[in-house]
Amino acid sequence: MNTVLMTLAAYLLGSVSFAVVTSKLFGLADPRTYGSKNPGATNVLRSGNKAAAVLTLLGDGAKGWLAVFLAIHFQQQLQVGDLAIALVTIAVFLGHLWPLYSRFVGGKGVATELGVLLGINPWLGLATLVTWLVIAYAFRYSSLAALVAALFAPFYYGLLFGADEILFAITAMSALLAYRHSANIGKLLAGKESRIGAKKDEAG
Ligand code: G3P
Repeated sequence: MNTVLMTLAAYLLGSVSFAVVTSKLFGLADPRTYGSKNPGATNVLRSGNKAAAVLTLLGDGAKGWLAVFLAIHFQQQLQVGDLAIALVTIAVFLGHLWPLYSRFVGGKGVATELGVLLGINPWLGLATLVTWLVIAYAFRYSSLAALVAALFAPFYYGLLFGADEILFAITAMSALLAYRHSANIGKLLAGKESRIGAKKDEAG
């Protein structure tokens, strides 16, 4: 029963879109109406408001971190196994991708996956973040950096902890993240992806 409740709570927490909340707070246009139309930090940055983009990144990351951190912290008291942690991992991520409060139109999951990984283990999160930073710095494509970092995340976890339910959850998360980046992959291959720092009208 605890596993079901934890999973449900994680999904509801993941459903809070910080791109939408932050944009409202700053009086900006809804990020689902401009640029890539993705409710995520990269697209909020296209509004030109860096503070709003940073807050979106932190908020979407923090909800992933919080869900997993709480699940791990109270694992003993709640008497649940690693399967519950794996389900919470997936649920908070699914909430971000298909949020209950936004007619199931959510983001691509980059910040939330990073937060989740930091919650599972700081070194795992840090290794994935460094991968994102290196690719983003070298190529200046947020989507490419996210795809490469997501590809590496399950390997980092496997190296640190071996194969278990959580590795399966991370692999599923990364696969869903790649799926949500289908349009970006098409644009990258066509040389039409917008680079980090481009404005609203430069991203289709
Ligand atoms: O955070 C999502 C990023 O990887 C791509 O976003 O807006 O360029 O599709 P966007």
